[in-house]
This record gives sequence, structure tokens and C-alpha cells, in this order.
Amino acid sequence: MAIQRDTLLQAAWTAFERAYAPYSKYRVGAAIQVRAGDVFNGCNVEAANYGCTLCAERTAIVKAVSEGALKPGELEAVLVATRTEKPTSPCGSCRQVIYEFARADALILLSNQPGRIVEEIPLAELFPRAFGPQDLLGHNVS
Ligand code: THU
Repeated sequence: MAIQRDTLLQAAWTAFERAYAPYSKYRVGAAIQVRAGDVFNGCNVEAANYGCTLCAERTAIVKAVSEGALKPGELEAVLVATRTEKPTSPCGSCRQVIYEFARADALILLSNQPGRIVEEIPLAELFPRAFGPQDLLGHNVS
């Protein structure tokens, strides 16, 4: 399925407006494309104890998985939207969870102004030599 860049941009920037970031004031919107070409979005959701904060990327992934719309190997693209001078790329924890569900050729798209993708990075480049499902499933440790 071709990457639906315009749909992803619109979905991510819509989520950006819904970000709940009263502590950091660092609002993040994300949108993901799953195998069927469907798009899910998510925003960051902070909590007063800081540690329970959810990133926008993982919010979008959890929404899709819990709706029954995303299984491992089906995630095609993740777009991250922030109003920052430099575009924001996913944190380490999000990279791990993106990798869990991503297709081998998944793309990370970055936007730091509405309507415009400024960078496209293959996940394999952003998160090389990752530890993942292939290391655990069907393998015996001795
Ligand atoms: N954040 C995200 O939502 N995604 C990222 O890729 C980077 C960080 C959030 C977490 C926290 O609410 C705020 O940005 C500042 O770290």
C-alpha cells in the first residue's frame, strides 16, 4: 500500500492539537499507517508524576492494536508532528515498540510545520540491529 502522506499529515496535526502536555509544554502528534492503509493517530498524554507519560507514537500504536487493526509486521509508516525548530524523531522506547509492529521497510516521517514532511527515514536506519520478536519467538535459549 502506498504511503498516504497527506492523510498521515492531517491525522498527526489533528492529534497535535489534542496533546495533553501541561508540564513539558512539548506537544506531539503522531499518525501511523497500518497494512490495510488505515490511519490511526495519537498525542502525548502527560501525568503529574511525569513517569506515566505516554508518547504520541505509542498512543497511536496502542489505539490501533486495541481496535484489532494492527498486528506485527503490518505497520508501514509513522509520522511525528511537533512545532519545534528541529523535527522530532521517536524516543528510544517508541522505536522499540514501532519495531515490534513494523514491516521491514517501514518509514518514519517527520514534520515540524503543518502540511509539510521535512524528513523521511527508514526505520532500519533509525533503529539498526534491533532486538525484537525474531530473537524471542520460536527460539530456544540454553
Ligand atoms: N514525546 C512524544 O510524545 N514523542 C516523542 O517522540 C518525543 C517525546 C513527548 C513525551 C513528553 O510528553 C514530551 O514529549 C516531552 O518529552
